[in-house]
Amino acid sequence: MYTNEAEILKRYGAANVVLTADVTEWLRSDHAGETGAVWIYKGAAFAFWSKKIQEMALEHGETERQHLVVMNHILQPSQRSKLIFLWKIMGFGLGFTAAFFGYRIFCYTINVVETFVEKHYGEQIKLLEERRSNPDLLMVLKKCCEEEVEHKEDAFARIPEIKGNVFIQFWGFVVKFFSGIAVSIAKKI
Ligand SMILES: [Fe+2]
Ligand SMILES: [Fe+2]
Repeated sequence: MYTNEAEILKRYGAANVVLTADVTEWLRSDHAGETGAVWIYKGAAFAFWSKKIQEMALEHGETERQHLVVMNHILQPSQRSKLIFLWKIMGFGLGFTAAFFGYRIFCYTINVVETFVEKHYGEQIKLLEERRSNPDLLMVLKKCCEEEVEHKEDAFARIPEIKGNVFIQFWGFVVKFFSGIAVSIAKKI
């Protein structure tokens, strides 16, 4: 386990990454998203009624903490979203609410969120590849994205049979919809 900041930055290859103006908005939304992710799992870690949720929250939450260390390193405080408090509250609320509805809904929610995040990072990776710019940052984003995919797959492996339910799918739609709105706002503010 990597606990110290220098080791985390080294592991992600983030120590010498320079943020270029063309992707500052994207990275602001990444920073906001990783903040939200840390707080999703903080909210879920409150689920004292479910050992399984708590264990998963601790495991995934540690990765999100490392992603946030990386984003904190890449973005100066002045470049970060001004609404960090809001992303924390929304993350906590989402993690806690999903956990409140139980292990299956929690896993489903994480699967939806991480599917969204994979697409979100994927767009930036594609952009940087096409522009052939900032290869250091590209590597960092790829590494983060890989781990989001691991989270997505881990969540799905725990609840492979849940897809059919209409109400659950509606919940998934709501989560995805608001994630999209949050990204649009965090890019600007
Ligand atoms: Fe993350
Ligand atoms: Fe994640």
